[in-house]
Amino acid sequence: MSEPSPAHPASRPRRLRRGRVLRELVSETRLDASRLIMPHFVLPDERGEEPVASMPGIARTGTEPLLRAVGADLEHGLRSVLLFGLARDGRKDARGSEARDPSGAVPRAVAALKREFGADLLVITDVCLCAATDHGHCGVLEEGVVRNDESLPLLAEAAVVHAEAGADMVAPSDMMDGRVGALRTALDGRGLVETGILSYAVKYASAYYGPFRDAANSAPGSGDRKSYQMDTRNAREAEREALLDEAEGADVLMVKPALAYLDVLHRVREVTRLPLAAYNVSGEYAAVKAASERGWLDEPALVRENLTAMARAGADVILTYHAREAVAGGWL
Ligand code: PBG
Ligand code: ZN
Repeated sequence: MSEPSPAHPASRPRRLRRGRVLRELVSETRLDASRLIMPHFVLPDERGEEPVASMPGIARTGTEPLLRAVGADLEHGLRSVLLFGLARDGRKDARGSEARDPSGAVPRAVAALKREFGADLLVITDVCLCAATDHGHCGVLEEGVVRNDESLPLLAEAAVVHAEAGADMVAPSDMMDGRVGALRTALDGRGLVETGILSYAVKYASAYYGPFRDAANSAPGSGDRKSYQMDTRNAREAEREALLDEAEGADVLMVKPALAYLDVLHRVREVTRLPLAAYNVSGEYAAVKAASERGWLDEPALVRENLTAMARAGADVILTYHAREAVAGGWL
């Protein structure tokens, strides 16, 4: 018997990589369509359809084209959507009243989707003020300061409006302190005890949101979001934010963005028992699309690798603009 040596190793991890069937058998992470959420930008104009220049393959759509797109996605097994609403012309104001108007784009789209697809489709709505305020901030702005407590009742009312329209879950993305508790109390107060809260618990002030702000017309008119969104340098703080939202009654927690924050995702996974979501944001999508369009990277392989990394780091659920193409194209 020869001694194990570098030339003749005793341990051979490569044995488990011999062929596709064996690799599948022992793979530690799996992706499937039931874990993906497809985001949609909803126009107030029912028939509207406008491509988003910085997000190839993504369009803002009114309810009619939205119903068609969601119907086609359902056929491929993509069953969850996240809706962002655009304000009607001339409706933005200082306190974002469009965000809690029952005749706004989101409540109408929610009602139409639920009427058409019922329990086959899970409808989640983004709750924030930035697409409805004339200053573009996610809360009430007074003397250049985004006011926390003044924003809470406005956000809570928006959540109630979405829930009353039929949303299965509401997803607050504003980053005000205490908003999960405020939403839960307001929902319960109206008897909406079954409406879930998917909290953007750990949301960083990120350069990766650029294409989204074009798509949703929600960029801040002045300043930035650093007084409410998290500092990229902080990871312990992510655990604190996650635990606070869990204590306030969140049903699912989210880390956002995903790829530059996989360490954070992993840390949050270790401190909570709630389901955990990762948001593969607009800038991450745009970067993959841009490189793929130039032929510099192989898009299906890249998307599979990125989504797998999120799942491996601890995401149970992934929100991604790639969802439609990934599922329809068999990229997973
Ligand atoms: C609104 C909101 C943003 C995103 C989700 N909800 C933008 C922001 O906070 O400026 C970003 C999503 C993406 O980039 O895909 N509060
Ligand atoms: Zn916002």
